[in-house]
Amino acid sequence: MSEAQMHLSIVVIGASGDLSRRKVLPALLPLYCQKLVDGKFHVFGFARRAMTREDFVGSIRGNLHCKYGPCERCEQRLQDFVGHFSYLQGHYDHAEDFVRLRKAIEEQEQGRPGRRLFYLAVPPSVFLDVARSIHQAGLVYPPDSDPWSRVVIEKPFGSDRASSDALGEALGEVFDESQIYRIDHYLGKEVIQNLMVLRFANLVFEPLWRNLYIKNVQISWTEDLGIGDRAGYFDSYGIIRDVMQNHLLQMLALVAMEEPANLKRQVRDEKVKLLKSVAPVTRDDVVLGQYTAGMYRAEHHPGYHEEKNVPTDSVTPTYAAVVLKIHNRRWEGVPFLMYAGKGLNTRETEIRVRFKEVPHEEFCADGTCLPPNELVIRVQPDEAIYLKIVNKVPGLDYRVEETRLDLRYAAKFDGVIPDAYESLLQDVIRGDRSLFIREDELKVSWDIFTPLLKQLDEERVRPDPYPFGTQGPLAAFALAEAHNVKLK
Ligand SMILES: NC(=O)c1ccc[n+]([C@@H]2O[C@H](COP(=O)([O-])OP(=O)(O)OC[C@H]3O[C@@H](n4cnc5c(N)ncnc54)[C@H](OP(=O)(O)O)[C@@H]3O)[C@@H](O)[C@H]2O)c1
Repeated sequence: MSEAQMHLSIVVIGASGDLSRRKVLPALLPLYCQKLVDGKFHVFGFARRAMTREDFVGSIRGNLHCKYGPCERCEQRLQDFVGHFSYLQGHYDHAEDFVRLRKAIEEQEQGRPGRRLFYLAVPPSVFLDVARSIHQAGLVYPPDSDPWSRVVIEKPFGSDRASSDALGEALGEVFDESQIYRIDHYLGKEVIQNLMVLRFANLVFEPLWRNLYIKNVQISWTEDLGIGDRAGYFDSYGIIRDVMQNHLLQMLALVAMEEPANLKRQVRDEKVKLLKSVAPVTRDDVVLGQYTAGMYRAEHHPGYHEEKNVPTDSVTPTYAAVVLKIHNRRWEGVPFLMYAGKGLNTRETEIRVRFKEVPHEEFCADGTCLPPNELVIRVQPDEAIYLKIVNKVPGLDYRVEETRLDLRYAAKFDGVIPDAYESLLQDVIRGDRSLFIREDELKVSWDIFTPLLKQLDEERVRPDPYPFGTQGPLAAFALAEAHNVKLK
């Protein structure tokens, strides 16, 4: 029997939660509409909350949209799709509840063992209970077997190198590394997937992609929201663990790595090699911030300390700017400045590659020269890639100014841009692990930040305050300037 003909069980553990309802389950619909999962599949929601099947389906119904064509008879397709859903109530550490799950799966498989995908949409504190229960219930096939079993886990993968290793070892008792898919959903975003194409399918960038021509690189993630009701999670992690050690560092690896021999199979090897050349971050190269109350868009926003369930003496940073140094032949001397913050005045994720100035006096006046080229890759919102160039303004006089070669995805491409979860779930089903975080990659990522995080925790370093709705702490601009970087 070919793989596509085998039954596929998708088990979402923590199916009552936000991630499951908003992202994971809705991402399956486009795969269904585009026939990337065929008729022989079943979705099992599993969580502790008592819910009927109808409650479960009702809880995600509002998030299901037929967004791709052709998905004719959308309403009918939605009905057919949710017809593949069941819900089981159970406890994560009760193996007998997972035996019930196994029986339900076997019923759908009708005597022919099928493929089994487990999505752990639960807090990391219950990962191990779930993994052990799945194992004890006999739901996991040996590695490399056909049909397969695979498990998807979401960050946070620990809070430092030691806790991440401990989690990895414990998961390793149940699943082989080849069965574990660690999601960093930024890697599924369209513009991030395009980074390798942009760099390696176009001849124009690669010769310039080095310290001889590039002055600095900025990678930023900003949000104009506070932490909302996520204090329980956020206050114990902070912005460095929440965004930098994973999403931003992954972007940096893709921007800076060497060309892989194979753009699918060897990407992770190249990322690991690059990350091993990144020096651990030192205290001198970091600015921390924490938002205070402020007016933004004519509304009052509370400060971090006033947010629900945040301790009033919390020193958790909601903003960080960090300068990373890559010690290899290509990047020696080029600062990579990453910054991430909540409660700011923009919501954007971007990569800015700034080239060096041209040595031509004609383009300078009164000590100021025209700005150097900059390649901007906007990941979200409004996906775009644009190159800032200097151009002669049309006319009889000789005047030059900065302008853009502009590729805006919404204007250029007709189709809907897939959500990262659609793309990543498709990869899990196909067994393509290139966009998932490998164990050695995770270790080396933590090595870059763990010494700093330990120092910050031990010394309870107090972040600089900044009012909600601003650009963050002023010290970040001074840090950038000290490294010859002009912050956007
Ligand atoms: N939400 C997102 O957009 C997002 C993005 C990236 C990563 N993640 C990660 O994905 C995982 C799930 O996220 P989520 O936002 O869906 O979380 P969530 O809503 O807080 O939790 C998911 C489900 O897990 C169960 N649960 C919650 N706290 C628990 C506890 N202390 N002990 C046992 N069970 C508990 C609850 O189900 P029952 O009580 O019904 O069992 C809940 O519905 C987390 O690790 C999160 O960090 C989430």
